[in-house]
Amino acid sequence: MKLGVLVSGNGTNLQALLDAEARGELEPGKIAVVISNKSGVPALGRAETAGVPTQIVDHRGRDRIAFEDELLAVLAAHQVEAVVLAGFMRVLTAHFCDRFPLGIINTHPSLLPAFPGAGAPAQAIAHGAKVTGVTIHFVDATLDGGPIIAQVAVPIEPGDDAARLQERIQGIEHRLLPSIVRSLAAGELSCEGRLVTRADARAE
Ligand code: GAR
Repeated sequence: MKLGVLVSGNGTNLQALLDAEARGELEPGKIAVVISNKSGVPALGRAETAGVPTQIVDHRGRDRIAFEDELLAVLAAHQVEAVVLAGFMRVLTAHFCDRFPLGIINTHPSLLPAFPGAGAPAQAIAHGAKVTGVTIHFVDATLDGGPIIAQVAVPIEPGDDAARLQERIQGIEHRLLPSIVRSLAAGELSCEGRLVTRADARAE
């Protein structure tokens, strides 16, 4: 199953996926293209080093549908069947999400529905939360919304700052995300009691 990975920044989760693929651990998933909405981000260099095609699709200066149409065109050109949001910091509309029913997953650094949006580790500390974590979920057209696939709790230690907490959270994300992506590609995930099949994930 060909996968498209959407990124906006550092790309450590992308790196975890690339490393898993290099070890044969994404099979039958294969990363066909990496798309960033920002130029010059480290994630693009990581993909290039791994020999994966990259594309920049800038969201600025146009409406969301035009942005998403270009994303969809790039994904279609690479025969992508399922999409992974790996630090992609834009909300997608139904125009995009409806093209990949149950075929888009996102990783987020909190126990959703707590602390959606940017800076989730800092939000958790600011709220005095004692536990936060990682959520991997199917994506709908809301901010970090959609059916939850997996969650892992991460305790917040006294004296944690956002950077230290984020590092511990990301250590878990980097192990969890590749295994979920492999399960998605293998058709092993279920949603509301229904197995997610390749047909569910395939773009029309
Ligand atoms: C990750 O921790 C991811 O969970 C988060 O951005 C980080 C990107 O790091 N995503 C969100 O906050 C989505 N709302 P990375 O670029 O090093 O993978």
